[in-house]
Amino acid sequence: MAIESVMHENRVFNPPKTLSENAYVKNLEEYQQLCDAAEADYEGYWGNLAKNLIEWKKPFTKILNEDDAPFYKWFDDGELNVSYNCIDRHLPNKKDKVAIIFESDDGQTTEVTYQELYEKVCQFANGLKTLNLNLGDRVIIYLPMGIEAVVAMQACARIGLTHSVVFGGFSAKSIQERVIDAGAKLIITADYQNRGGKELPLKTAVDDAILLGGCDSVEKVIVLNRTGKEAALKENEIDWHELCKNQKEECEPVWVNAEHPLFLLYTSGSTGKPKGVQHSSGGYLLHAINTTKWTFDLKDDDIFWCTADVGWITGHTYVAYGPLALGGTQIIFEGVPTFPNAGRFWEIVQKYKATIFYTAPTAIRALIKASESDEAVHPKSFNLSSLRILGTVGEPINPEAWMWYYENVGSSKCPIADTFWQTETGGHVITPLPGSTPLVPGSCTLPFPGIAIDVVDETGQNLEWGQGGLLVIKKPWPSMIRTIWGDPERFKNSYFPNELGGKLYLAGDGAVRDAESGYFTIMGRIDDVLNVSGHRLGTMEIESALVANDLVAEAAVVGRPHDVKGESIIAFVVLKSDRPNPEKATEIVNELRAWVGNEIGPIAKPDEIRFGDNLPKTRSGKIMRRLLRSIAKDEEITADISTLENPAILDQLKQKV
Ligand code: WT7
Repeated sequence: MAIESVMHENRVFNPPKTLSENAYVKNLEEYQQLCDAAEADYEGYWGNLAKNLIEWKKPFTKILNEDDAPFYKWFDDGELNVSYNCIDRHLPNKKDKVAIIFESDDGQTTEVTYQELYEKVCQFANGLKTLNLNLGDRVIIYLPMGIEAVVAMQACARIGLTHSVVFGGFSAKSIQERVIDAGAKLIITADYQNRGGKELPLKTAVDDAILLGGCDSVEKVIVLNRTGKEAALKENEIDWHELCKNQKEECEPVWVNAEHPLFLLYTSGSTGKPKGVQHSSGGYLLHAINTTKWTFDLKDDDIFWCTADVGWITGHTYVAYGPLALGGTQIIFEGVPTFPNAGRFWEIVQKYKATIFYTAPTAIRALIKASESDEAVHPKSFNLSSLRILGTVGEPINPEAWMWYYENVGSSKCPIADTFWQTETGGHVITPLPGSTPLVPGSCTLPFPGIAIDVVDETGQNLEWGQGGLLVIKKPWPSMIRTIWGDPERFKNSYFPNELGGKLYLAGDGAVRDAESGYFTIMGRIDDVLNVSGHRLGTMEIESALVANDLVAEAAVVGRPHDVKGESIIAFVVLKSDRPNPEKATEIVNELRAWVGNEIGPIAKPDEIRFGDNLPKTRSGKIMRRLLRSIAKDEEITADISTLENPAILDQLKQKV
């Protein structure tokens, strides 16, 4: 590896010496040794980690089972319990250590120790046991960020129920779709969530989801009353606290097979409805632990803060599982970065002396903007000296935002881990390790040790460093997606396409390796998946939502670069009626935005909608999205439009409402 060549460039930031000396992975030689160990004996490498990092009830004898590839199995005759590994095993030595520091939207602090967390999880798990559920039954969790969300997930894990967390910003329709797809027997929700000073209802969305129909699998709904407001519960609804009352504070974990599905998490693809990404217990937990350890160098006295909501994979791996499995102390925050002002993140870091801080580039960019006009919310107005490691996730971080983060939040002494990964990978797959990797702003640097990342062309052939291509993972890894719930064919076709030979995992991103250093830079999705404020949305999904509206005949959705959100959503719509006049157009835009908000959730509302009598299509009827992307950016159209069926409509689509 020619890392030296990177180090000679100006914009290379080396790890601070004291951090390196004490880090789990201390330098590039140690990093390389880990990679070499995996190369030399792939199964042995993962097997050793799994033995050392997880407490098994029944040790595994086989590491990787490829009999049914690409449906790989890891450690598949081993038995464990994820909740036991996250909580019980810390009790002998750290029962009084704080596990979670919770800060509510309105600034109240609640702390729970490992012993207290254990009791809460056990009581809730014992409550769940009274509900006639069986091993592997699916449970939808629709809760605000908070201790209870973690308790609910951990309690499911404790008794072998498979949870599927639905982000609190998703609509009733989205809940309904997930309930039906997962065949969920139970929904766990709360009356309200608080965000940005507002009280937002959750339970009513669950009610509406059930009213939409088809949710016959649901037997019970557990409701957490957070506001103290009286609410009548229906016959099949149970108050969270009633359920836990008189339950014992201990609960024997249910030991499950390593391949037992710990959770489903729905995420968007380029086609069709969101897919239920199925994760395992053993392999997933292994990578959650190992990445939290090496990427964040999490030590006993750290205060870890990952700002992600448990509704996303980041909130699973780096809130609900990883930090707990390592016996760490973490902050959980209910609110939003801009309430009561854009200094909130820095205030929380200062208040609880966070040492590791992990957030999304879109949040950083929003806070840069806010601090430009208001010095009081600038990170320099806070004491952030406790910080030692920073991280980002969810989208590429532009070098300018990286530098601002590095200098102003990390005082030029904290390495930034730009972690590339996906819902499907379970944990980091490309990332710097803070004690060992020289950093280059805008690059997620090198593969996590053991993960066989590469860049190939459309036929699956290796590309030279310096050439852009498709990001792939060449060998199965423990925390990989196991299948798409209920759709194994889609799993195979989406991730192990025949075009690439059927053996390479296709991430769906474009990437290039630096010609000299081999450092990776992610070039964005190669499919019709948008990344809006770090949220993944399929253009097809938004198009389907639009055409479900009675007014709409046809719709095409594209992304347009946005300096804070990464991408914004632009929809081109053909109405069943004539193209609207300007006044009518504004009215319809408002109606359609609200409609998409109801169909999917507010995060999917188009930022802009334009109308045409038709969409630009080739003579064979294919929508020319490339053209739409140029129009959305107000670019001069240089592409060849001679194959276009109806060039006249381009002028219509250039017009803003
Ligand atoms: C997609 C996965 C991983 C947890 C949150 C998102 C993009 C993610 C990075 C990064 C550039 C990134 C990719 C990826 N992405 N991290 N560090 N640099 N792009 O998980 O919702 O499954 O989205 O997010 O496009 O495929 P997700």
